[in-house]
Amino acid sequence: MLRDDRFETIEVIPITGSLGAEIRGVDLVDGDDDVVSEVRRALDEYHVLAVRDQKLDAERLHRVARRFGPFSGNPVHTPMDGFDDIVRFVREPDDTGKVIGEEWHMDLAWLEKPPGITMLFGEVVPPVGGDTCFTSLEKVYDSLSPRMVELLSGLTGMHSGRGVFAVNAIQKRLPLTANMEAVENTVVEHPVICEHPVTGRKYVFVSGVLTHFKGMTEDESRPIRDFLMARAIRPEFNCRLRWEPNTLGMWNNPYVLHTAINDYPGYRRVMYRSTVEGAVPRAAAA
Ligand code: SIN
Repeated sequence: MLRDDRFETIEVIPITGSLGAEIRGVDLVDGDDDVVSEVRRALDEYHVLAVRDQKLDAERLHRVARRFGPFSGNPVHTPMDGFDDIVRFVREPDDTGKVIGEEWHMDLAWLEKPPGITMLFGEVVPPVGGDTCFTSLEKVYDSLSPRMVELLSGLTGMHSGRGVFAVNAIQKRLPLTANMEAVENTVVEHPVICEHPVTGRKYVFVSGVLTHFKGMTEDESRPIRDFLMARAIRPEFNCRLRWEPNTLGMWNNPYVLHTAINDYPGYRRVMYRSTVEGAVPRAAAA
């Protein structure tokens, strides 16, 4: 098993050749600030982390999340009692239909500042199944021809909250806020070719809520959007986070897409989610 020796104080084990790493040997609740900095560095490098052996509950997740930055806000989901910054996702063994997050997406991509980090802690995880799958938007950028990059560099994506409540309302156990009208009418602009503010690496900012490109119709935009989404979900750009008891999943939300996998009927799954404020996506320098 490959261990990344650029990290000396924490154990970082890559999951695939594209993104994702397992982290061992850290205590994110009581560890010192250097531990948090190292985990942040691993996140910038790998974008998705499975931090094992974290004994968390809602209160401890709140403390860990706030060590990484202020809460991003969440206009869609009603938080748990006592915690403004935590949502509880529950799937009971006899629930049917789609699971929460079952489509490739970026969390809250239609905000001006999409969350920079999403954290998900499994309080109850199925003995098998229920993984979360991720894909790297940096690898998508790397896979494009120079001419395609040139074309996309001239485009601005329009990301809309339209339909977000309808998708979430299918989930009978997911309490929603009263912000439906405001969310439905939210449209924000993000450059399509962006760069990571720390590493400078370029990535394609695309998601399922990109309705059209500025100055183009939805019909004109759809083939390009669909091409990018199809490119994005190619398996060689993916990793799967396998949940074990005491796993904290963390991802650099704007640089990846993710989807929950619906393959655990008959099992319970209970997750706590918190998010950390991100930055306005930055257009890549030419
Ligand atoms: C999400 O989309 O934020 C949840 C993913 C999961 O439950 O695996």
